[in-house]
Amino acid sequence: MLRRLHHDQPESFAFTPANQAWAEAQITKYPEDRAASAIIPILWRAQEQDGWLSRPAIEYVANMLGMAYIRALEVASFYFMFQLAPVGNVAHIQVCGTTSCMICGAEDLISVCREKISHKPHQLSEDGSLSWEEVECLGACSNAPMVQIGKDYYEDLSARRFGEIIDELGLGKTPVPGPQSGRFASEPATGLTSLEGYISDRVEKNASVQLAISHCDTVRRIDGTEFPLLTPWRSKVKKPLPKTKHDSPRKSKTAK
Ligand code: FES
Repeated sequence: MLRRLHHDQPESFAFTPANQAWAEAQITKYPEDRAASAIIPILWRAQEQDGWLSRPAIEYVANMLGMAYIRALEVASFYFMFQLAPVGNVAHIQVCGTTSCMICGAEDLISVCREKISHKPHQLSEDGSLSWEEVECLGACSNAPMVQIGKDYYEDLSARRFGEIIDELGLGKTPVPGPQSGRFASEPATGLTSLEGYISDRVEKNASVQLAISHCDTVRRIDGTEFPLLTPWRSKVKKPLPKTKHDSPRKSKTAK
């Protein structure tokens, strides 16, 4: 598929102050002449903030990293995880259409998307709240068919349950992710056949679902204030270190 910048671009892009601090901290994870290595996490944070990558956002990140714009565009247009067109302002839904999911009903899920969101993928719903696309295997084949919505997986879906999930999103709710069939994780649909002794100690939800519930970030746009910035090595940088032949001052890579 040809991946191009969207025809309608915003005037500008800027990280929120907390996201800016987070992005600058990522650069310090790499040697000072290798700032470009931070491009994927920083592009990803730009997408987490706005939902998609606009041309100004890609240029902004390229400037931060001291890269030619075309190099940043190459990365953004190569990886399908980067959205180059606006997505729904509530959620973007990625329907797995690979073998296991296709056998188990992915086409029914795609029909639900066509009916409830838009006839074609990568098009916004009428109210601009939702968008969808078909993607390759998301690695949850034993819980097929499944979709990714925002950061989380909704598994063991039926067309009816998937339709309900879309309706709930439209009402501003975030349905609980994970298996929608009552399964805990990816054990046999008929129940455990081994390690049954551990059932009584089990928490209600599997770790992935529990994390989604506690973080509440399934479809949230990230502004950087969600979690404290953990970069303990930065405070150590301020201490005077013995000079070595490799020492040289770090150049500022912040955006203009
Ligand atoms: S085939 Fe759908 S998650 Fe692997």
